[in-house]
Order: sequence, then C-alpha cells, then structure tokens
Amino acid sequence: MISDWLCRCRPPELTSDVIHVWRLDLEAPEALPGDLTALLTQAESERARAFLSARRRHEFTALRALLRRLLSYYLGGVAANEIELTENRHGKLSVKNAETQFNLSHSGRWGVLCFALGRRVGVDVELKSPGLDLSRLAQRVFSPREIERFESLSAGERKEAFFRAWTRKEAFVKAHGEGISLGLKRFDVTLEPGRVAQLLASRIPGDRSGNWQLADLDFGLEHAAALCVERLPPPLRSIECFEWDGVGDGDGISSFSASH
Ligand SMILES: CC(C)(COP(=O)(O)OP(=O)(O)OC[C@H]1O[C@@H](n2cnc3c(N)ncnc32)[C@H](O)[C@@H]1OP(=O)(O)O)[C@@H](O)C(=O)NCCC(=O)NCCS
Repeated sequence: MISDWLCRCRPPELTSDVIHVWRLDLEAPEALPGDLTALLTQAESERARAFLSARRRHEFTALRALLRRLLSYYLGGVAANEIELTENRHGKLSVKNAETQFNLSHSGRWGVLCFALGRRVGVDVELKSPGLDLSRLAQRVFSPREIERFESLSAGERKEAFFRAWTRKEAFVKAHGEGISLGLKRFDVTLEPGRVAQLLASRIPGDRSGNWQLADLDFGLEHAAALCVERLPPPLRSIECFEWDGVGDGDGISSFSASH
C-alpha cells in the first residue's frame, strides 16, 4: 500500500526501477497556462481542431501538451513539438527510438500519464458514471471467473468492484498495446474489496500472470484508476505519483495516493 505521495512539477530522474505517474486536473484551465498548441505537432493541432466538443478539444490538447512537455524533460531537453511519436496498429503511442515508455488516459475530471524506462506500462482512469447496468456490462467484458466473483458480492459492493476490475483490465490491455482487441475475457484480475490488485491468470499465448504487476491509483471517490507494469529486471522499487499543479517550471507541491 502506498499513500499520500508528495509531488512536484518538474520530474526527477526516471530510472529503470521506478514508474512515474502524473495526473492533470482537466477542470483547472490554469493548470497549463499559455498556448498549449505550441507544444503540439501540426497533425495533433489539426486533430484537436477537429473535435466538435470544446471540452474534448481541451482534454486532448492539455493532455498531449503535458505529455510532450514531460517527455521533453525525460528525453533530456528535446523540443516538445519535435519529439517523434509513433502509433502501433491498435493506437498505442510510443517515442520513436527511445527506451522511455508511456501511456495515458482521461475520464471525467482527470487526465493521467505514466512513464517507465525499458518496460511496458498501461494506465486507465474512469469516472464511476451513475446509471450503468453493471451486471450486463460485466457479462460483456469480464471473464467467467471474474463474473463469478462479481456476482458473489453484495449489491452494495458491486459498483466499486466493477470499476476496480474495469480499470485493472483496461490498464492491462493498454500495457500490452493491443487495447480491447487483446480479448477482455482471456485474463482474470482480482476485484473483491480488500484484495490486492493482481493479475490472477493470463490465457494469452506466450503470456503469464507473473509477467505483470497491477496497482490501484487513488483518484478519490468519483473515479477509479489503475496502472499495469511489465515485470522485468530490475525489480520495481517504487511508483512515484505527481500532480501537475500549474506553476510551470516552479516547485509547486501537491499530493495524491496510490496503492498496490
Ligand atoms: C482505446 C482503448 C485503449 C482505451 O480507451 P478508453 O478507455 O476509452 O480511453 P482512455 O482515455 O483510457 O485512453 C485513451 C488513450 O489511450 C491510448 N491508446 C489508444 N489505443 C491504445 C492501445 N491499443 N494501447 C494502449 N494505449 C492506447 C491513446 O494514447 C489514447 O489517448 P488519445 O485519446 O489522446 O489518443 C481501448 O482499450 C478501448 O477501446 N476501450 C473501450 C472501453 C471498454 O470497453 N472497456 C472495457 C473495460 S473492462
């Protein structure tokens, strides 16, 4: 269990035995002042302009700008809009010819980014939207073992369990890089209250549950979030969580918590 992480705006050095997680409050426009599009490539600016919803446009622009700004630090000062990103055929982005790996997610109020050196990572945040038919959704996206565990829970426990499993599963398929085309029923995660975040089984050819480490990220009551990290040497020493708080290159401090 990791809690109440102390955070700063400028990333410390990223080493191969730590993961950095950054979150951005998308409802705080002052968090990223200035012309964000200057940090984007022309193609990204065009993609941003194409969003019909102003909110979605802001979310995309702000998170991509923060991604590029942080990558610029991690890559030793390369200009943000000159960092070359490539996309696999399922949509996962990576930095061309660099060991630095990352992933991102956004939902509701939050954007989240994670960074690692030399190992695959995936992250997911979800607003726990009301009014969803969770039992029906569980049948669609959970494995038989997960459905059995989910249905054994009381009605009051099910909403939390659903979003716990959902974000752990999304983080896993995003770490793999194939997204939901990987097959959401081909692996099992823990979901019961009080059980540590864990990949219980993977039936994906060539994969093993021991290849991956899951962790929950605490985003408060309204959101669920999880991180999935490839288990490779050296062993993971820590997951360091930072909140981007809008003082640019200053030393602003804020904190949030993670557990694994
Ligand atoms: C696309 C997908 C990877 C995530 O979708 P999502 O949860 O709607 O979106 P998130 O905000 O978490 O992530 C979006 C980011 O993931 C990244 N991404 C896209 N495809 C990806 C992939 N195959 N692997 C990893 N990351 C990917 C992109 O950078 C994207 O950011 P962008 O919108 O700025 O380009 C995919 O898993 C999906 O389609 N999910 C649908 C939701 C669902 O049914 N989930 C069931 C859960 S049990």
